[in-house]
Parts: sequence; C-alpha cells; structure tokens
Amino acid sequence: MNRQITLASRPVGYPKESDFNLVEVPIPTPADNQVLVKTIYLSVDPYMRGRINSAKSYAANVDIDEVMVGGVIAQVIESKHPNFEVGDIVNANIGWQEYGVTEGNGLRKIDPRMVPISTGAGILGMPGLTAYFGLLEVGQLQELETVFVSGAAGAVGSVVGQIAKIKGCRVIGSAGTDEKIDYIVNELGFDAAFNYKHVTDYHAELQKLIPDGIDVYFDNVGGEITDAVFPNLRINGRVVICGQISQYNLEKPEMGPRFLWHMITKRARIEGFLVFDFVDHHPRALAQMAEWLQQGKLKYHETIEEGGIERAAAAFISMLKGGNIGKQLVKIAELNA
Ligand SMILES: NC(=O)c1ccc[n+]([C@@H]2O[C@H](COP(=O)([O-])OP(=O)(O)OC[C@H]3O[C@@H](n4cnc5c(N)ncnc54)[C@H](OP(=O)(O)O)[C@@H]3O)[C@@H](O)[C@H]2O)c1
Repeated sequence: MNRQITLASRPVGYPKESDFNLVEVPIPTPADNQVLVKTIYLSVDPYMRGRINSAKSYAANVDIDEVMVGGVIAQVIESKHPNFEVGDIVNANIGWQEYGVTEGNGLRKIDPRMVPISTGAGILGMPGLTAYFGLLEVGQLQELETVFVSGAAGAVGSVVGQIAKIKGCRVIGSAGTDEKIDYIVNELGFDAAFNYKHVTDYHAELQKLIPDGIDVYFDNVGGEITDAVFPNLRINGRVVICGQISQYNLEKPEMGPRFLWHMITKRARIEGFLVFDFVDHHPRALAQMAEWLQQGKLKYHETIEEGGIERAAAAFISMLKGGNIGKQLVKIAELNA
C-alpha cells in the first residue's frame, strides 16, 4: 500500500497536525512514458503554507482531502520511460506520499556518485537556485558590495550569504536563535549577524552593524525587519523580495510603516521573483553551485526528521516555527541497493 498525507482542514494561524490526515491507497501503476517512484526524502517548504489557504495565489491550492503538494528525492522502482531505469534517483513533484507516478519528461536525475542525494532538494535544488538567481540576477550583486539577508540560517538564506562571500561582499544576516547566529558567522563566514528575537530596535541594530548602508537586501521574512531596512539602504540599493514568512501564519495581515520615501532618495529598486522564472537557466546555475560545493566554497546543513511519512506534518510545522538549520527534510525510506 501507499501512505499519503492529505489536507484535512485549512489551518487558521500556524498549521496543526490535526489539519492533515494519513491515508492508505494502493500503489499506482505507471502508464507509457511514466515512472513509478519511491520517496526517499520529502522536502517541506514555506511555500506550502500558501497552498493550503483558501485564497488562491500564484499556483493551484491543495483541496481538502487532496495529497499535499511537494517535491521529493525518489528512486525509480518501475519505468515505462526510455530515459529512466529501475534504481535511478530523481527529483520529482509527487507530493507527500511514499510512492507516486510521474511523467518521465522533465524529470531531473541526480547522480548519487557525485553528491549526497538529499542535496537535490536543498543546496543543489530549488532553495539553492532561489538563492543564486535572487541574489545574482534580481539583486544584480556586484563585487565588494554589502548584503543583508534575513532568514539567514535557512535553506535559501544560508546559500545567499555564502554566494555573496564568494563574490567578495560583506554579509550580515538575521536569524532566530543564538545557535543559528553562531552557525552562520563561525561556520559559513558571515561577517556579522543578529538574533532578531533578542533585538528590539532593528533600525538601530542595522545602523550599528552596517553603518555605511546596505547595497542588496535579500528578504526572506518581511515584517518589521524589512521595514527597518529601507532607511538603511545605500544609493541605488536593491531589495529582493524572495519570501515573507513572518506573514504566512498571521490571522490578520499586518500594516507596516510607509517606507517609499526612502526609495526616492536612495534611487532604490524593489523586485519580487519566483525561482521558476529562471527555469531555462537552472542547469548552468546547478553546474556552478556543484563546482563551488566541490571546491569547499559552499557548505550546507540539513535538518532531517526521521520516522517516515507520519512525521511530515510535524516537520513542516517545526520548520515554519524555526526548528530547522539549513534545509528541512523528512526521511521516508532507505535507498534500495
Ligand atoms: N521566491 C521564490 O521563488 C522562493 C523560493 C523558495 C523559498 N522562498 C521563500 O524564501 C524564504 C526562505 O525559505 P526556505 O525554504 O529557505 O525556508 P527556511 O529559511 O529554511 O525555513 C523557514 C525559516 O523561517 C524563519 N521564520 C519563521 N517565522 C519567522 C518570522 N516570523 N520572522 C522571521 N523569520 C521567521 C525560521 O527561522 P528563524 O529561526 O530564523 O526564525 C525558519 O527556520 C521563505 O519566505 C520562502 O517562502 C521563495
């Protein structure tokens, strides 16, 4: 049988485990040009919070009793597609389930001899690509600039800071525990960082740590930290809106201060993006990231919830509340030899 996690109810505020159901259905059979895969790692990501709201956003919502959306690292166990063999490792979008059928066309293979396969959901997957394109293409980062990244110890933010260091920039981050601050400064080489749960005046903190101002702000969180950035931008600063996680679980939207005056005087630019906007360029970015990884210029950390598909909702909720350092994954099964 195939065990799946479906949406039981639309969460109000932070999701609860009771908003999800564990159901059993027969393992599906692939048709021509499809493959049947077995999930090894499930990725839980902030965007999933938006998909379980009732308000429609940029992509289809998950319906009640529908399988939760999500990407997995999986092993092919039956193939009816000429490019895939039993045993291949792939990055697939089959959602929160132990087995799934997916089209072979467009499926990305991961070579387990080159990298640990879990990296395909993190530093060499969607979050890593988000960091790469957000910083270099949207943020138009130039060498020797000053970068501030919020959500700096997470899957995206930790890569943003490291790419900025590779480009010779000064990098400051914010995150929500002292352990995370220690990790990004002492392991990843950020120049400075602050725990936003201990600091009350973000404007003063930014002035202290970044007295000459911010060239690129990579925003993963929104809210008060982001409000404090605008007066601290440099002339021609860029604000890259990647995520707004501080807002995802609010029952009432927050109204922030009006900051657009600073955009005028700083001749600054603010731009949002989706990683999929750059899909045609993903292969070249992955090649560059893999090279940096092999050269030891990029490091990564994963927080892996053991215990199978029944732990998926708990891992998702934990990640939304800051329980992860680096990429949050759920281990679903062992690889077949
Ligand atoms: N635009 C795109 O295409 C794209 C693609 C991927 C991700 N994203 C966005 O990028 C952001 C980071 O994603 P990720 O996958 O790397 O997640 P992540 O940072 O690995 O995990 C989420 C983190 O958000 C932080 N957080 C939770 N509530 C917060 C709050 N109220 N204020 C500040 N921080 C809070 C927590 O860390 P702390 O302990 O530091 O609070 C938590 O660990 C998210 O906003 C996501 O939606 C955008």
